[in-house]
Amino acid sequence: MTTVTNTRFLDACRRREVDRTPVWFMRQAGRYMAEYRRLREKHSLLELCRTPDLATEVTLQPLRRIDVDAAILFSDLLLPLEPMGLPFDFIAGEGPAIETPLRSAWDIDRLRPFDPRESLAHVLQTIRQVKRELQGRVPLIGFTGAPFTLASYAIEGGPSSNYAQTKTLMYGQPEAWHRLCGRLAAMAGDYLNAQIDAGVDAVQVFDSWVGALNAADYREFVLPHTRRIFEAVGGRVPTIHFGTGTSMLLEELRDAGGEVIGVDWRIPLDDAWTRIGHDRAVQGNLDPTLLLGPIERLLDAAEDVLARADGRPGHIFNLGHGILPSTPLEHVQLLAEHVHAVTRRPAPESGSPAGAG
Ligand code: CP3
Repeated sequence: MTTVTNTRFLDACRRREVDRTPVWFMRQAGRYMAEYRRLREKHSLLELCRTPDLATEVTLQPLRRIDVDAAILFSDLLLPLEPMGLPFDFIAGEGPAIETPLRSAWDIDRLRPFDPRESLAHVLQTIRQVKRELQGRVPLIGFTGAPFTLASYAIEGGPSSNYAQTKTLMYGQPEAWHRLCGRLAAMAGDYLNAQIDAGVDAVQVFDSWVGALNAADYREFVLPHTRRIFEAVGGRVPTIHFGTGTSMLLEELRDAGGEVIGVDWRIPLDDAWTRIGHDRAVQGNLDPTLLLGPIERLLDAAEDVLARADGRPGHIFNLGHGILPSTPLEHVQLLAEHVHAVTRRPAPESGSPAGAG
């Protein structure tokens, strides 16, 4: 296997000293790029995800244009729902739509276990192709959805503003809820291990919508399941635990697992890091809307994030959530260059652990 030459991102995950703060962006591949839009004129989103040549191309597109320190597999969080027995499609302008959402304990018991090496073989093939093309230039991040976020799509059938049906099942039929989350967590752990076997260098667990819960409910209904995903990975590669709206849940996310905790823009990074504890790395936390401009405000805000990270080993620069489709590419390019330029420091001795020397 090729060794990764740019190890900034992986070193920061392990809280090692780095020569510059690593940068990557959630949704760094997507509609804000002309070359992505051109492919989307010919292919649906699911076609892109399911065709290894196309998914490989889209994964690599941002790397040709932006000075990022990691690639993220181009795929979608919802792909595992189909082999579990929940087919879905993406509706233009609306987002995902699950054909027959889960509504009862009976529906949950009909969910099928599946082998990602068979049913999602195309994703694993994409990973192998991307790794070949990258030739170790930067690491590749794989990902899965976490139980709450996946359950919310499976139950609501699509995006939701209040998660009313999800929470109704959670509060009203806790046993069925725990069975569902147990299955989703087992699937996610297995899927991540298959991605790691195929070559990903790190994994991110997306619990994008878990900020809809309070801390006590998170501990009761989510934490034991999400923890099992991190236990399944068992330290094989660095793990990132990401959510949005989690300012009231940071300790809970940390306790569920992840060497790196994702932080969104609703809380200053230094406050978040103190609460998480400096024995974990953090990723974040610029508001993606700032990428729309003005540039001065964007760069000032980026410097504020960096000042709050204070040069401490274990900060990965990212947005608090994904790049918006209307973002000018030049702003993304400038932001990555700026973060690298202002965080330049003497190259560390390779492999020096955090805090040493
Ligand atoms: O560059 C990357 O970050 C990798 C690609 C990626 C996609 N989806 C491609 C995509 C990743 C990591 C995801 C994860 C994902 N998918 C999440 C978790 C991350 C997050 O944003 O919170 C969620 C909730 C989904 C489900 C999903 N997929 C929704 C709700 C939508 C519609 C919203 C939208 O932006 O239109 C998608 C579509 C989707 N997934 C797009 C992309 C690039 C939009 C693309 C298009 O229509 O061409």
